[in-house]
Amino acid sequence: MKGWLNMKATAIYFSPAGTTKKSIEYLAQSLEKNDIEVQLINITGDPDIFPRKNFEGLIEKVKAHDLLIIGGPVYIDHLHYNVADMLKAFPPAKGKWADKVCLLANFGKVTPGVALAEMSSILNKSGRKTVAALSIDAEHCISRTFKNKISQGLPGNETALLCEKAAQDLACLLKNHTSLEALDLTSFLQKQYDDFPTLADEKTVLAKTFPEPKIDYNECGGCLECVHKCPVGCLQEKDSLPYVFDESLCIHCMNCLVACPNEAVIMDISAKEDLLMKKLAIQGVTPDSPSRSQYYFCGDTNRSFEVS
Ligand SMILES: Cc1cc2nc3c(=O)[nH]c(=O)nc-3n(C[C@H](O)[C@H](O)[C@H](O)COP(=O)(O)O)c2cc1C
Repeated sequence: MKGWLNMKATAIYFSPAGTTKKSIEYLAQSLEKNDIEVQLINITGDPDIFPRKNFEGLIEKVKAHDLLIIGGPVYIDHLHYNVADMLKAFPPAKGKWADKVCLLANFGKVTPGVALAEMSSILNKSGRKTVAALSIDAEHCISRTFKNKISQGLPGNETALLCEKAAQDLACLLKNHTSLEALDLTSFLQKQYDDFPTLADEKTVLAKTFPEPKIDYNECGGCLECVHKCPVGCLQEKDSLPYVFDESLCIHCMNCLVACPNEAVIMDISAKEDLLMKKLAIQGVTPDSPSRSQYYFCGDTNRSFEVS
């Protein structure tokens, strides 16, 4: 029988603009305070994984754990497809792989979409139960290029508090070896779909409404910051200059635009500012409204914990 002190968690996350990383770190710190050791694996920009999407090295790197934690962003109402592809590549929950999972989906205030439902449903197919889930309001990465930044500075203390609560609940759950029979949030999370009677395919929306990145070589100073910040290997280096290796890989996180000191990356998404502001206004919120983060725990699905 396992002791209180040797519980382990493995957290695997994809965080193009860094807010999912911050959220995972809040949770990891709180778990460590509860005597749960956390292995952190950040797949963002990992050259072994991107652009070929080869997850074998990652699967090998994962250590034996009692709790699996997955973090990723919401893009066009969905779980980011790179995270979905990774989850589909996971082996079944046996041996070193725990059957209990905690999910984190970071969204830019507009809508958490169905990301948590998608995560839990994919993982359920490989024998995993979602015991806790966090939907985290975070700075909207596209809005970094807007006049009005959405959820600037989030996640912050409010989400750290939710992570503390989650860590305490998870520590109790692992300590008590509670039976998993009644503990899966998968069907509860499926209710997210009720809010989206028609759900567009995100790759189609991206292809139709987002421009491809281009480099203006008259302006480029060759610092390669855009290449270093590209989370998916879309921008690569040749002869000390950046080039677009494959535009279909671009996820439009805007890291390259934000990183370039010379405005040499061209991707005009200014039309999105109006669209996102309208989406927020319809819901009665503004870009700097309080955090909309939420926390769900198994056995407690009659209510969710909101930021107070
Ligand atoms: C192409 C694209 C689509 C997005 N779609 C949504 C969305 O549907 N709802 C939302 O609230 N935020 C959306 N976002 C914002 C991200 O979810 C948000 O910035 C998140 O914090 C990113 O996580 P990261 O910082 O770990 O990369 C989108 C961002 C991009 C680039």
